[in-house]
Amino acid sequence: MAKLTILEFPDPRLRTKAQPVTEFGPDLARLVADMFETMYEAPGIGLAATQVNVHRQLLVLDVSEEKNRPHVFCNPRILAKDGIQNYQEGCLSVPGIFADVERANRVTVEAEDVSGKTFTLEADGLLAVCIQHEMDHLAGRLFVDYLSPLKREMVRKKLEKQRRSA
Ligand code: NI
Repeated sequence: MAKLTILEFPDPRLRTKAQPVTEFGPDLARLVADMFETMYEAPGIGLAATQVNVHRQLLVLDVSEEKNRPHVFCNPRILAKDGIQNYQEGCLSVPGIFADVERANRVTVEAEDVSGKTFTLEADGLLAVCIQHEMDHLAGRLFVDYLSPLKREMVRKKLEKQRRSA
């Protein structure tokens, strides 16, 4: 396994729209393992392939306290959503920045697992937030896109400053 490099805002590669996963073989399994290692070490609760510069519709997440409930979604699509929740989100590609984002409270997602088998999952609360946040990455969207242009510019400057002093 290998730790992967996470792209950071405002890297333009984070704006790439991901292509569907079509090959469910050992290369995909290796990538998924590397993404979990990268996510757990960061530490984070979700990671989209886009963030490690792989532009496929793939995401991994684990919102459990014990870090023992890994989920893999290939080609995720939302079948249904309802309700509204506000959650203070963060992102491994926007380190140290947190902001309230409005999302659906409950989502029903269909996706393929790492072996290509289709499954459906109903999620609410943090898991639902995380799925929607990571799916945004696959479309080239970031949670800071929901902020005002002024706030987003402040985030960009703050990250620039953090990187200079690192
Ligand atoms: Ni993110």
